Amino acid sequence: MEYLIKQYPLDRGALEIQYIEEFFGEFPRKKTAQEIIQRLRDREFLILMAEAPLPDDAGTVVPVSYKVVHEVRAGEAEPKLRDLVERLRGCVQFDGRKILYSWIGATRRDWRGQGHFRALTEESEAWAHAAGFHEVLVKTKNRFYDMRGTLDQLEFDVVKYEPHPVDNRESKVYLSKRLTSDVVRAHRSLRTVIYAYD
Ligand SMILES: CC(C)(COP(=O)(O)OP(=O)(O)OC[C@H]1O[C@@H](n2cnc3c(N)ncnc32)[C@H](O)[C@@H]1OP(=O)(O)O)[C@@H](O)C(=O)NCCC(=O)NCCS
Repeated sequence: MEYLIKQYPLDRGALEIQYIEEFFGEFPRKKTAQEIIQRLRDREFLILMAEAPLPDDAGTVVPVSYKVVHEVRAGEAEPKLRDLVERLRGCVQFDGRKILYSWIGATRRDWRGQGHFRALTEESEAWAHAAGFHEVLVKTKNRFYDMRGTLDQLEFDVVKYEPHPVDNRESKVYLSKRLTSDVVRAHRSLRTVIYAYD
């Protein structure tokens, strides 16, 4: 299967992400376009979406999966990212290295298990490696079993586990992957990338 991926510039991409997140009832706090723009405006980022045909209408192609990754720096000013860097100090080396954060992403239910998220992940890793990033980080929770299983298959390693004081299902799990040329060579999805414009 060949995956069709669209890469978006900031303003249009933020609107597309806001729109696709409406399909995900399982996320309690959906990101707004404004929040996305604010987070990504002054840093390197990649907004990707996979498109695929509707099951009952092969002529109509719709967005089915998305992924947003961005740079995270040792001296972050943005409070949430500063907190992330602080929590991972000692587990991840930020100083003198380019670190990518895999911020948000998901696949619509009817298109899960078809490789769309692997294709987006591999595309983001290829982009990041070419842009000089050394490592990609991601944060999830114990109870996000689909995501944990997927990150396992994508060969992310746990770098930190943060127990929740009351409910272990809410405990945070931080994972990372070194972006070596071997990682990029091992990619297996066949992808076509189209660049969308504002
Ligand atoms: C996690 C998620 C993005 C996976 O998307 P997807 O498009 O179905 O993933 P893919 O089909 O590309 O699968 C990638 C790999 O993960 C594996 N995988 C997918 N879902 C899995 C699951 N539930 N359990 C175990 N492995 C799984 C696939 O088998 C595949 O492995 P392979 O390529 O080695 O065969 C999707 O299930 C989702 O959106 N879940 C909700 C998101 C979520 O929980 N977010 C919480 C915030 S972190």
